[in-house]
Amino acid sequence: NSDPKKPRGNGGEHHQQATGNTSTLTTQQGGPIADDQNSLKAGARGPTLLEDHIFRDKIFHFDHERISERVVHARGFGAHGYFETTETLEDITSADIFQRKGERTPAFVRFSTVAGNKGSADLARDVRGFAVKLYTKEGNWDIVGNNIPVFFIQDAIKFPDLIHAAKQEPDRGFPQAQTAHDNFWDFVSLMPESMNMLMWIMSDRAIPRSFRFMEGFGVHSFRLVNKEGKSQFVKFHWKPKQGLQSVLWDEALKINGADPDFHRRDLWSAIQRGDYPEWHLGMQIFDEEFAEQFEFDVLDATKIIPEEQVPVRIVGRLVLDKVVDNFFAETEQVAFCTQNIVKGIDFSNDPLLQGRNFSYLDTQLKRLGGPNFTHLPINAPKCPMHHFQQDGHMAMCNPTGRANYEPNSWGEEDGGPRECPVKGFESFPEEVEGTKQRVRSETFADHYSQARQFYISQTDIEQQHIINAFSFELSKVKTPAIRKRMVSHLLNIDQQLAENVAEKLGIDPLPEPADAAMPTRDDLPASDKLSILKN
Ligand code: HEM
Repeated sequence: NSDPKKPRGNGGEHHQQATGNTSTLTTQQGGPIADDQNSLKAGARGPTLLEDHIFRDKIFHFDHERISERVVHARGFGAHGYFETTETLEDITSADIFQRKGERTPAFVRFSTVAGNKGSADLARDVRGFAVKLYTKEGNWDIVGNNIPVFFIQDAIKFPDLIHAAKQEPDRGFPQAQTAHDNFWDFVSLMPESMNMLMWIMSDRAIPRSFRFMEGFGVHSFRLVNKEGKSQFVKFHWKPKQGLQSVLWDEALKINGADPDFHRRDLWSAIQRGDYPEWHLGMQIFDEEFAEQFEFDVLDATKIIPEEQVPVRIVGRLVLDKVVDNFFAETEQVAFCTQNIVKGIDFSNDPLLQGRNFSYLDTQLKRLGGPNFTHLPINAPKCPMHHFQQDGHMAMCNPTGRANYEPNSWGEEDGGPRECPVKGFESFPEEVEGTKQRVRSETFADHYSQARQFYISQTDIEQQHIINAFSFELSKVKTPAIRKRMVSHLLNIDQQLAENVAEKLGIDPLPEPADAAMPTRDDLPASDKLSILKN
């Protein structure tokens, strides 16, 4: 049956054949395909032949369409845009992006939830990721931030525990993306350092109206280093021009049911109708001496730097004006990493940041199938790039010519790229000395003061929302001792908050305020250990 005009049985309607300028459907090897409706068979009703290379080419590729989802921040939505420098900072940082006022740098941003899987709903009560990739002329700079300026934990070694506790419980596989479960509240109530973050998570910040109405924060203290090698600390802020907006919890529940894609649809639609969302980049810049005057440690990611003490200086704006051409190629395959910094910016010794610098690259090696994911267009720098790294899975930009090492004796033509002390990255020469030890600095010890400051800075309605959120979430916790332990922490934050939550949960009398030290396993009465097993 080689006549293309003749029907070939089921699916054999041939009104979609290539004619004129339409491109011809091919296999992955480029071979034109005559019939994409029927597999090759031994007789019209016989078995499909293993020989059918066209069928195998197609199904083989389909079988491998899925890659593993991100271990956290699996559900996200990205868009392209640009960053415009509105203030030059040549006296503060040698970063090329801050040298020329008015210059635009291409950017890609991915917003996300943290705990839910890829198919979860947009309006879960959760932190939102706010990851920005800036394709600068001197390399890619990623600010991998969140919409909340503090974090749950102080040391990256606790990250796997935090995420295990926040994601679905391992025996039952639910709840998928809710803070409302025993494991989560068990863990955080045993980690007093999470108290400040919990106040933010129970606030309206954790149920934003859309990605367009959120702030973003780099969270950690970073360094800015100028041409003379002088360094200052910096915290990065994204301030939405649209303002801050959240939904009510009842609205969040309804929206999740009616349209779990609410946030991604909102961003897509806004950009498509030309209503481009915009953020200002702000910096809190302070030097080492100033940092020492704070009553907390600037290396502790559970603390903010109060804006009254260090005002936010606006230095640029970020505009998102283009949706992706392909969700998988761009939003799924983009690889942000805290270690992607450029000359003029440097790390601080924040132990959470130091751990993140290892984790992102490590996980992406697996998620994106090998060490060459920087060759993908979404991850590749948009500035010249020359190095001697080669081979591995999917190598797409191996060095050309003879030299793949240096030093070498080959001339300018054949010798390949050379190092450049003038242009190159230099680490800030911070002095470090100390005894090797597993330790948490005593300057990280105050877990309640900023949580209290956050609570009392809220309006009456916002405070009521926090009380309602704690009561709702803890009412889903089945183990009485965990609820009580949380109330004992709230007593260290604000008496009225603790009393209100306790009343709604029917906890009477109030427990003793928590010991600031970490509670132990023995704090859980035997009866509650049993009820964990039962529920
Ligand atoms: C992913 C932010 C802490 C490990 C992400 C993403 C964001 C983010 C925004 C999503 C990136 C994207 O859209 O592709 C943060 C912030 C943190 C924090 C603001 C604390 C201040 C940590 C820590 C670790 C970690 C402590 C581990 C030690 C990861 C991993 C991914 C991720 C493994 C998945 C990356 C991928 O598959 O591409 N984080 N994170 N994060 N984060 Fe974090």
